[in-house]
Amino acid sequence: MDDLIKKAAADLAAARYVVALTGAGISTESGIPPFRGKGGLWERFDPMEIAHIDAFMRDPAKVWNLLVKEMKKIVDSALPNDGHKGLVKLEEMGKLKTVITQNIDGLHQAAGNTDVIEFHGNFAWQRCMDCMRKYETSKVDVSVIPPRCDCGGILRPDAVFFGEMIPTDAMWRSRQAASACDLMLVVGTSAIVQPACLMPVYAKQSGAKVVEINPERTPLTGKFSDYLIMGKAGDVMNRIVAAMDKNEG
Ligand code: APR
Repeated sequence: MDDLIKKAAADLAAARYVVALTGAGISTESGIPPFRGKGGLWERFDPMEIAHIDAFMRDPAKVWNLLVKEMKKIVDSALPNDGHKGLVKLEEMGKLKTVITQNIDGLHQAAGNTDVIEFHGNFAWQRCMDCMRKYETSKVDVSVIPPRCDCGGILRPDAVFFGEMIPTDAMWRSRQAASACDLMLVVGTSAIVQPACLMPVYAKQSGAKVVEINPERTPLTGKFSDYLIMGKAGDVMNRIVAAMDKNEG
């Protein structure tokens, strides 16, 4: 792994326009469970039963009770970890321009990255399904489920459920960033959910290097990524930043 850390540090030093695509794996070290794999949410629940828009429309109270309430508890108290902080350091070095995240936890912004595209929306806000009024999630009273707007409408997370469109602006800006970058860091995503997992493909097709950080292989590995640094995001980011500092110093 040491050789790959050095290689990533050198590739980042040579790059002029770095974009990161992140997934649930970058937030596991902040105590937020991933979706797939060991301890993943989809090990306990069928996503089509609780994370599909049809399931929410059918039975909002069920989705609130099984998924949204639990996520609110976890996300309300989660803090950025070294993986998020490493991406902030890359931005401060003038390398990283944009983070495209599939996460809805707001931890990239909390860490200090300034251009974060929330590909799957966010969990910071709930919106009324009738009048669209927005409420800060941390202030929503969950003593009665589903929580309701002052107008009586049901509140839903401002995030993208399965079966819903990616917000147009997020889709458009992500495609542009993926095509414009000369290095894409793909951190903590299983890279199987479309269309987010296509961003590294667009980057590769546009001539960028694609570098994965993940303890596991993904469908991108060996096909669309140039190399995979097998490890946890926090540890790997710390080591890459330290190697870059050393090279500069
Ligand atoms: N550091 C880096 N990667 C990690 C770590 C870690 N500490 N821990 C786990 N991982 C990796 C796993 O090996 C896996 O490849 O993170 C990935 C998490 O994959 P998923 O749970 O599938 O998360 P993600 O890719 O973000 O899922 C995409 O699926 O259900 C949806 O909408 C949800 O946005 C989500 C989308």
